[in-house]
Amino acid sequence: MEHYPVLYREVLDFFKKIKGKHIVDATVGGGGHAFLLLKNLPDTFLIGIDKDDFALKKAEEKLSIFKNRYKLVKGSFKDIDLIVRSLNINYVSGILFDLGVSTFQLKMERGFSFMRDDPLDMRMDRSQKKTAFDVVNSYTKPELAKIIKEYGEEKFAKKIASAIIEARKKKRIETTKELAQIVYNVYPPALRRGRIHPATKTFQAIRIEVNNELEEIKEGVNKGIDLLEKGGIIAVISFHSLEDRIVKNIYRERKKLKDIEILTKKPITPGTEELKENPPSRSAKLRVAKRI
Ligand SMILES: C[S@@+](CC[C@H](N)C(=O)[O-])C[C@H]1O[C@@H](n2cnc3c(N)ncnc32)[C@H](O)[C@@H]1O
Repeated sequence: MEHYPVLYREVLDFFKKIKGKHIVDATVGGGGHAFLLLKNLPDTFLIGIDKDDFALKKAEEKLSIFKNRYKLVKGSFKDIDLIVRSLNINYVSGILFDLGVSTFQLKMERGFSFMRDDPLDMRMDRSQKKTAFDVVNSYTKPELAKIIKEYGEEKFAKKIASAIIEARKKKRIETTKELAQIVYNVYPPALRRGRIHPATKTFQAIRIEVNNELEEIKEGVNKGIDLLEKGGIIAVISFHSLEDRIVKNIYRERKKLKDIEILTKKPITPGTEELKENPPSRSAKLRVAKRI
């Protein structure tokens, strides 16, 4: 269950033009992109960040052949500035964000996937307190409806929130399958068999809430731009419209402030070859900007 590094050819094309020494993989995961970056950019030193201890362990195994050319740090990319500066590095020449969860997180018993029956967890950082169980079992109906609508862009948000509250009256909702079934039952029968499972959007919403994902992206990408030396690049791969909109808007604002030049007028998406090799990459969008 290796994680396929999404859009890696395109990412490498941008990073190969980098002049400086230090680069950051702000979402190092299992080290897929980091491995290719270290291999193809022999003069660079890579700082790899992740919230997830298991990801860092996998990355360490994968990157160990590069010996003293990398440093892995546990933390959130919202603190990218503090993390980089704690290593006595003031500016970097490239930063990659590959948002969301990795294949192995989805396939583990971490509660990210409704395809498995696991406890409702969804924390990327297992030392964090709030879990999906807490959100599903303690948020009020309006709170649940709001996050499912805003973070899931789910049109049945209110009905799903009501169904969760009803189910909670009988017993606490403990597992991914229980939650997925509640959502499934809310969907009109004609819409249950579409290409996307009815629970997809609700699971996305709860995961975003548990991990404070959208706020952290805003903070991390803005701080990332501030950390870039002149000519340095930032590359962000997003997987759904909420993430992509945030990145697009930050780039627009920072372009107005004359901080960056946008290198991808339209986001780059996987080509037919990648879609064949790795179908889950179909929703990926890469946006790259250069510090000026
Ligand atoms: C799609 S995976 C990255 C995969 C990696 N590029 C590779 O090729 O193996 C995203 C990773 O980012 C981590 N992550 C997500 N949000 C984060 C945040 N705010 N701070 C630090 N890590 C985060 C997740 O734990 C996950 O390991």
